[in-house]
Amino acid sequence: MLGSRSDIKIRKGRLADAAAVAETFRQSWLQAYRGILPHHHLENMIRRRGADWWASVIRSGDSLIVLEKGGTIIGYATLGFSRTRGPYQGEIYELYILPEFQGIGLGTKLFAAARKRLAARGLRGLVVWVLEDNPNAVRFYESTGGVDSAESVEVFDHKALKKIAYTWH
Ligand SMILES: CC(C)(COP(=O)(O)OP(=O)(O)OC[C@H]1O[C@@H](n2cnc3c(N)ncnc32)[C@H](O)[C@@H]1OP(=O)(O)O)[C@@H](O)C(=O)NCCC(=O)NCCS
Repeated sequence: MLGSRSDIKIRKGRLADAAAVAETFRQSWLQAYRGILPHHHLENMIRRRGADWWASVIRSGDSLIVLEKGGTIIGYATLGFSRTRGPYQGEIYELYILPEFQGIGLGTKLFAAARKRLAARGLRGLVVWVLEDNPNAVRFYESTGGVDSAESVEVFDHKALKKIAYTWH
């Protein structure tokens, strides 16, 4: 399924990518959060974030990067200024790889590219918030050297879930 690594490319999201990113988002969120986020919350989120929603993200600036294989989008990340105060100026808001392409090093590549973009904008330090109930993501950010630095609780339709902030200098 992987084929050649040379057909892997990471680039800024373009308007023409909106539908493919919406589909990548839908599949990877269903896999990551089914049974963790309340069903209605997840369904509403997926309904809301269709191609039009992603088109407006793309229009509003350079926060989206996509990972493509042979010209097909198989992952994405969104990034920008940290939403929380503190010494970590950059944040990766989301980083998702389609289920069938996980576990073969592509998340590591996309993560490195996202960090590079934040650094190129002059943002020092990085924070990523992860749901504690998402063990693959927790393991991933620990394997890339993230330090468990803070905790918070977010309520999704009456269900309280713990989030962990991983940070990098
Ligand atoms: C988490 C995610 C981005 C990781 O990307 P990936 O391409 O699968 O990860 P990589 O192949 O680059 O693996 C890097 C390291 O992460 C860990 N890891 C990744 N996937 C894992 C899995 N399924 N189970 C256990 N550890 C895993 C491993 O430690 C791995 O290092 P190793 O290969 O030396 O053992 C990707 O699996 C994904 O999109 N998951 C679902 C969505 C999600 O949880 N996103 C993050 C939300 S904040």
